[in-house]
Amino acid sequence: MQILVTGGLGYIGSHTCVELLNEGNDVIVVDNLSNSKIEAMDRIYQITNRKIKFYKEDILDKNALRNIFNENSIDSVIHFAGVKAVGESVENPLKYYENNVFGTVNLCEVMNEYNVKSIVFSSSATVYGIPDEVPIVESADCRPMNPYGRTKRMVEEILEDLFNADKSWNIKILRYFNPIGAHSSGLIGEDPNDIPNNLMPYITQVAIGKRNELNVFGDDYDTYDGTGVRDYIHVVDLAKGHVNAVKNKLSAGYYIYNLGTGIPYSVFDVINNFKKANNLEIPFKIVERRAGDIASYYGNPKKAFDELGWKAEKNLEDMCRDAWNWQKKNPKGY
Ligand code: NAD
Ligand code: WQD
Repeated sequence: MQILVTGGLGYIGSHTCVELLNEGNDVIVVDNLSNSKIEAMDRIYQITNRKIKFYKEDILDKNALRNIFNENSIDSVIHFAGVKAVGESVENPLKYYENNVFGTVNLCEVMNEYNVKSIVFSSSATVYGIPDEVPIVESADCRPMNPYGRTKRMVEEILEDLFNADKSWNIKILRYFNPIGAHSSGLIGEDPNDIPNNLMPYITQVAIGKRNELNVFGDDYDTYDGTGVRDYIHVVDLAKGHVNAVKNKLSAGYYIYNLGTGIPYSVFDVINNFKKANNLEIPFKIVERRAGDIASYYGNPKKAFDELGWKAEKNLEDMCRDAWNWQKKNPKGY
């Protein structure tokens, strides 16, 4: 199959390109490099010994997208391109609505023009907002709590409307929980520009000596050890979920899947597994809770197993080992 991957040089996109290439697909990437480095392309080649076809373009540019569809015979699209920082989305919501919502509408318009009606969309478990119960199932209510989450939910609704208007579309919405880790080669991984917002890149930067200590955001939550509980998923497992979704022969339709392990882990569990996997101490201190954080957030991934035949295989120790291997081999990122 020939697959267009938008945002394919980013963190999850680059890992997905590797898995797609390993399965023999032809991969075309469009990425404006706003949050990624061209170096990732060479790293993908080093891992797979196969080349992707790369377009440095913005998905907001419809003519650039048309050109890509003209020059290739695309069967399906995996759509990662978008902006993802929750805090920034509160400060600058229009950037989020423009990139994530307009960008997707543009993409779908061009797909329609070229009669390519198969898309896998990167949504987020953040669309659920404060859950009524955990583990969260796909049919739970969606009450996103910030502009970023709302862009994801809006795109889901736009895609559902699109399917309702034209039942030949095949739309798969993947709601990721907390992707962490890196490819086991240490050649590709997460490369945050500034001070990391997320737990694992912060921990690896403490381990490498770039930050002094980890701030643990609260130990007084109603969880088994008082720290926040999440559903961490290895990025390679997540990437494989996309391969299953794109090659799955379910008939045309609009489908939603949680992608996570379904296993809840606390901040202390992550610190302890990181220590164990890598034989390293992570100095930390307990600080105030972070605004907007939820005590316990994890999913039920059974639907993805039943319908896509996909299940996460790597455990928290694998995630910690691979995250550290990437950081250690790339102390300054790409
Ligand atoms: P990332 O920033 O590493 O990757 C996104 C890629 O898209 C980057 O390479 C960036 O340069 C590119 N891009 C952004 N806007 C673009 C545009 N207008 N045109 C072309 N390219 C553009 O992020 P990621 O962590 O790999 O996330 C990928 C997708 O998954 C995003 O849509 C994100 O919202 C979603 N998601 C991520 C997480 C997470 O925790 N990482 C969780 C849930 C959902
Ligand atoms: C995990 C746990 C923190 C950093 C975010 C987005 C979400 C999704 C994934 C895209 C929490 C604690 C963290 C630190 C800490 N992205 N923590 N010290 O908040 O679950 O999800 O990324 O869709 O939309 O909100 O992930 O890694 O930031 O936090 O104690 O320095 O680690 O309180 O319990 P989160 P996270």
